[in-house]
Amino acid sequence: MRQFTRDERYRVLKSADEIRDLYEKIKDSEYRQEYHIQPVTGLSSDPNGFVKHGDTWHLFYQWTPWGAVHGLKYWYHVTSEDLVHWKNEGIGLAADTEYDNKGVHSGSAYSADDELYLFYTGNHRDENWVRTPYTCAAELRSDGTAAKLSKPLFGPHPDYTEHQRDPKIFWSQEKNKFYIFIGAQNKELQGKILVYSSDRLLEGWKFEGELKVPGYEAFGGMWECPSIEHICGKDLLIFSPQYMKYPGRGESTNHNGYMVGRMDFDTLTFTPEREFTLLDYGFDFYAAQCASGVNAEDHAVLIAWIGLPDNHYPTEEEDWEGSQSMCRIITIDENNRLIQRPAEALKSLRISSGKADGTLPHACELDIDVSDGDFDLNLFTKEDGSGGLRMHYNSAELCFTVDKSPLDMRFNEKVFEQAYLPVFTPLRKLEVFIDRSSVEIFCNGGESTFTAHVFPTEREHFYTVSDGAEVTVYELKKAVTDEFKV
Ligand code: FRU
Repeated sequence: MRQFTRDERYRVLKSADEIRDLYEKIKDSEYRQEYHIQPVTGLSSDPNGFVKHGDTWHLFYQWTPWGAVHGLKYWYHVTSEDLVHWKNEGIGLAADTEYDNKGVHSGSAYSADDELYLFYTGNHRDENWVRTPYTCAAELRSDGTAAKLSKPLFGPHPDYTEHQRDPKIFWSQEKNKFYIFIGAQNKELQGKILVYSSDRLLEGWKFEGELKVPGYEAFGGMWECPSIEHICGKDLLIFSPQYMKYPGRGESTNHNGYMVGRMDFDTLTFTPEREFTLLDYGFDFYAAQCASGVNAEDHAVLIAWIGLPDNHYPTEEEDWEGSQSMCRIITIDENNRLIQRPAEALKSLRISSGKADGTLPHACELDIDVSDGDFDLNLFTKEDGSGGLRMHYNSAELCFTVDKSPLDMRFNEKVFEQAYLPVFTPLRKLEVFIDRSSVEIFCNGGESTFTAHVFPTEREHFYTVSDGAEVTVYELKKAVTDEFKV
């Protein structure tokens, strides 16, 4: 893998021409996706500033232009009218003030009438590389450029470590106030969420306190990317706890999950009614965030980074890596469980329902109706059915075991290659979305999901499935423009 010095990773991009050759080199890679948002060059990670503004969905993501490395982060901007067809808009936010001299880190957006505001972490480092995180805001002008406020909304809280970031802005109808949740770490190195409030969007922010989550006082060392929604009469808290292991996730120390419960702003307490549950059981799913501006009581819209911090992927060799998951419409059922559905417009990408002949188109959807009993699904196998991503469903245990080690292209072997996918009610249906270098699986209409990067080689474009299952294969059209826009 290409090694980058710190100066190379933190180099400021002065003109699109500096990365044009890089784009020309990677654009025809066989792993470039058809309907997943991916970086023009370099690394994309967390979704940021996901919002519905007027009739348009805006999304940004963390972006390092120079290669598949974490370095100077930009917010790269994409837009859509239907959550499925996405257009590249270029850089939305750049690191260009003293408060964000080493990157514009993750955050959220808020649509207020005609204006669209971005709330982000200014990652400041001094000459000794000591970090000070600032919570900053900017207005996104209609020409796609950002007008930053001259001063941050607030700086770091002195009682916590340098890990304070990822502002999630929201309006509380009940309290008639804006709130910002910040992912944080206390001095005992425990993951926390800090709560700030104001009655105006761009000023008057004050620290309310630390969010209490009974039972989760010592749960990981940092809670990245917090997000809160009120849907289906419940409160939904999402975050990405780090520096801890989690059952079934091998050596990984980065996870993404949710709790359903009650948020009490008077006591700053989130009382879980459903324990921390993984959002997705796959190998690569992180930093999920819900769109703001949806203004619906009955659902939210979720997106995540297909990737994990500290992991490495084969396309690093090609100087790019990471994509965004499909947008998922989420609801909460009577068991306080999240139900995730692909956005409706995804159906418009279906080209044809091809013959289920055991071959896998590069971009496709497999709808599988399953009969009773145990069941096997092997994706990306060789023609003789060997190898691939192997999934076995044990009907007595209501659980899949998943093994990616038989794939030709192995990666992150030391993190984990075997995972599980719980099936909360007896298995009836699987919807499998394949897009050249990713797979997203929805089980029983989205009761549980499984997302992973895969890099099938030329000979791994087949699948096998247990007898009795009914399979429909739809080839899917391209939906991301992937044009060079910086
Ligand atoms: C999560 C994260 C965030 C941070 C961003 C920097 O992946 O570490 O906490 O804001 O990435 O790119």
